Amino acid sequence: MPATLIDGNAVSTSIKARLTKRVSELNEKGISPCLATILVGNDPASAIYIQNKQKAAKQVGLVTQDHRLKDDLSQEELTLLIDSLNNDSQVHGILVQLPLPEHINEFNIINKILPSKDVDGLTAINSGLLLHREASLKPCTPSGIMKLLDYYNIRIMSQNVVIINRSILVGKPLALLMLERDATVTICHSKTVNLNHLLLGADMIITAVGDRNKFVLNSEMVKEKAIVIDVGTNRQSGKLVGDVDFESVKEKASWITPVPGGVGPMTIAMLLSNTVTAALNPSSRQ
Ligand code: GUN
Repeated sequence: MPATLIDGNAVSTSIKARLTKRVSELNEKGISPCLATILVGNDPASAIYIQNKQKAAKQVGLVTQDHRLKDDLSQEELTLLIDSLNNDSQVHGILVQLPLPEHINEFNIINKILPSKDVDGLTAINSGLLLHREASLKPCTPSGIMKLLDYYNIRIMSQNVVIINRSILVGKPLALLMLERDATVTICHSKTVNLNHLLLGADMIITAVGDRNKFVLNSEMVKEKAIVIDVGTNRQSGKLVGDVDFESVKEKASWITPVPGGVGPMTIAMLLSNTVTAALNPSSRQ
């Protein structure tokens, strides 16, 4: 039997409906949750992500600011913008779209954001809180994946979970969230030896490579009834595709996310949810 589809569009729509109600209740109390996004340069993929985040934020009734900056701006100029958003009591959430141009130090910039406004959950403080299981603002893609699995009652405890990604956006925080739920986690990356052996032992595979010239997950790499979560985004003849050879893998997996319509919309829903959480935190309101 082919895999059951994990429908990120449907789950994110229901989360956004709840958020819309919550935002309107907050508006009645005089709180207007506001998300400020910052895009540096004109990477087309990043521009589409920001466009989608802005659109979804408006849909649920958030106030938004859309800061677009030239890619030759200096670290100091970007820092000044973040400082001004940190000090603006009308702004509750700040997102700096990654990657940043090479001349800008990503770590320093991320850590200029007030942790209480860090709706990406990437600052050293929020990452540390995640290690301690105390974070209220968690990275959006990993928390979106956990929400999807919970929505479909997919078992996490004691599962062998293989994650192909080691970034601060996906792999590392996702490993922590999986550990919290008693999974056995393996993080794989470009230097991993015997990836195929590890994949064949996996009850759940989460792939976020994003380069089909380097890696495509096909059905021979997946054990019977595995759960397959595809975080990859690749453009193929203008079409968005994931890391997974969907047509073959769906015949072998028990559950599978599509691309588009799987993890992507959940990342956005979690960003909106984090913005509402931040707006409820008195320290983000100064
Ligand atoms: N680039 C790709 N995904 C993300 C994300 O979730 N947040 C940020 N800030 N940048 C990204």
